[in-house]
Amino acid sequence: MKKAKMVIDKDFKIDEIDKNIYGSFVEHLGRAIYTGIYQPGHPAADEEGFRKDVIELVKELQVPIVRYPGGNFVSNYYWEDGVGPKDQRKPRLDLAWITLEPNEVGLNEFMSWAKKAETEVMMAVNLGTRGVADACNLLEYCNIDANSYYSNMRRAHGYEKPHDIKVWCLGNEMDGPWQVGAKTPKEYGRLAEETAKAMKMIDPTIQLVSCGSSSIGMPTFPEWEAVTLEHTYNYVDYVSLHQYYGNRENDTADFLAMSMDMEQFIKSVIATCDYVKAKKRSKKELKLSFDEWNVWYHSNEADSKIKEKKPWGVAPPLLEDIYNFEDALLVGLMLITLMKHADRVKMACMAQLVNVIAPIMTDAEGGAWRQTIFYPFLHASIYGRGIALEPVIETTKHDTSKHTDVSDVEAIAVYNPEKEEVTIFAVNRNVDDDVNFTSDIRGFEGYKVLEYIVMENDDMKAVNSLNNQRVKPHNKTDYTFDDGIFTTNMKKCSWNVIRFGK
Ligand code: AHR
Repeated sequence: MKKAKMVIDKDFKIDEIDKNIYGSFVEHLGRAIYTGIYQPGHPAADEEGFRKDVIELVKELQVPIVRYPGGNFVSNYYWEDGVGPKDQRKPRLDLAWITLEPNEVGLNEFMSWAKKAETEVMMAVNLGTRGVADACNLLEYCNIDANSYYSNMRRAHGYEKPHDIKVWCLGNEMDGPWQVGAKTPKEYGRLAEETAKAMKMIDPTIQLVSCGSSSIGMPTFPEWEAVTLEHTYNYVDYVSLHQYYGNRENDTADFLAMSMDMEQFIKSVIATCDYVKAKKRSKKELKLSFDEWNVWYHSNEADSKIKEKKPWGVAPPLLEDIYNFEDALLVGLMLITLMKHADRVKMACMAQLVNVIAPIMTDAEGGAWRQTIFYPFLHASIYGRGIALEPVIETTKHDTSKHTDVSDVEAIAVYNPEKEEVTIFAVNRNVDDDVNFTSDIRGFEGYKVLEYIVMENDDMKAVNSLNNQRVKPHNKTDYTFDDGIFTTNMKKCSWNVIRFGK
C-alpha cells in the first residue's frame, strides 16, 4: 500500500513566495513574436497588431514578469534596429536561430504589449557581440528622463516618459559554446562587473542578474558561478539558472524524477553563492533567478531540419513542442521545486510563453489555445501566492532507472493570510500505484475544503490542440475531511491542487 502523510502548519514558514517566480519569457525566436503575440491583419489583432486572444490567455495566467528579447537571440541583437519609424527599420540576420529578424517589433512595441498583458518586463542586454557602452545606451533610452542623447531619442520615437524597466539580465548563457560571443568565466566576470557598475551609475534602482550556467550539465558548472560571481557579486542581485528536461528514452518514471535534479541544481547554486559571500565577507545574500525552465525536446529533430534546409526565413515554426500529459506533470513538479526554495529563488521564467516551448499556442489562420502545461502553471500562479510552508511529508518511495529514493508524492503548501486560504500542490509521480494521501491541517482552525482540482489521464502521451482539449483539469469529490484531516486516494500520475479556506 503506497502512502503519504503531510502535516501543514502556519509556523512552518519557508518564506514569502515572490510573485516573480511565476514569470515567463518571450524571445525573438520562431513564431513567438510574429504570428504569436503580433499578427497585424489577424481577426483578433488590435490597432497595434497584437493578438487580443493571446493577451487574454497571458492575463489568465497572471504572468507578473516577462523576460525579453532573448535568449540566444540577444547575444547578436542591436536594439537600435528595432526602434524608430517602422518603415526605416532593416531586417537583420539572427545568428542564434539562423533566421531573418524583420525588426517590426522592437522594445517600444514590446513594452506596449506588456502593458496590455498586465506584466512587467525583464530586459536582457547583449554581452555577446556588444559591451558596456551599448548596455548603458539601452538603459538610458529605457529609463532616464534627462535632456540626454538617448532619452531624447526615445522621446523622438514617441515615448515621452521612460519605460522604467526594473530588472536587467547581463547577457544570456555566456558559458555556452553555441552562444554568439561566448566567454570564459574570467572574460564574462570582468565584462559583467564593469557593465553592472556602469548600469547602476545610470539607474541605481535597477536589479541585475548575473549569468549563471546554462544547465547543471555544463562542464564549467559550478566553477563558472564561483569565478564570475567573484567579479559581479557586489553589483548584482540575482544569479541565473537555466534547465530543460525531456523524456528522450520514453521512461516516464525516470522523467518524473527529474525535478530532483532541478532541486540539486538549486542547492548547488545556493552553496556556490554562499561560498562567494563568505570569501568576500559580504553581508549580502544573492537571490536566484531560474529564468529558463521547462520541458524541451519534442521539436529538436524538426528544428534541425528547418535550420539546415530553410535558413534565414522569417518566423519559422521553431521549438514548437506539443506537450503531452506527462510533460504537464513534470512542469507541476518543477513548480513545486521552485516553491520549496522560495527563500532563495526569487524569480523564475517558464521558457517560453507563446508558440516557442510554450503553454500558449496560436494558429496563424485561427485561434489561440492552451497546451497541457498551461494548467499547472495557471494553478501555481493563481493559488501559489503567499507563504510557502515547509513540506513535512512522510511518503513511500520508489527507484527509477537513474534515480533512487524518489518520493511517490511530492508536495508543497502555500498559505495566503490575506485571503485566509491554504493550498496544497501535489503530484503522485508513481507510475504504477495510487497513493493513500492524508494531510493534517488542524493548525488551520475553521478551514474547509474549497475545491479539489486534479489532472489525471490514462494516456501519458495525450495532447491538446486548437479544437481538442484532451488534457485539462476537473474537480474531484471523492475525499474526506474530518477534524482537520484530509484524506484521498491520490491517483497514480496525477497533478492535485487542494484548496482550503474559511
Ligand atoms: O529558450 C530557448 C533557448 O534556450 C534560449 O534562447 C537559450 O537561452 C536557451 O538555450
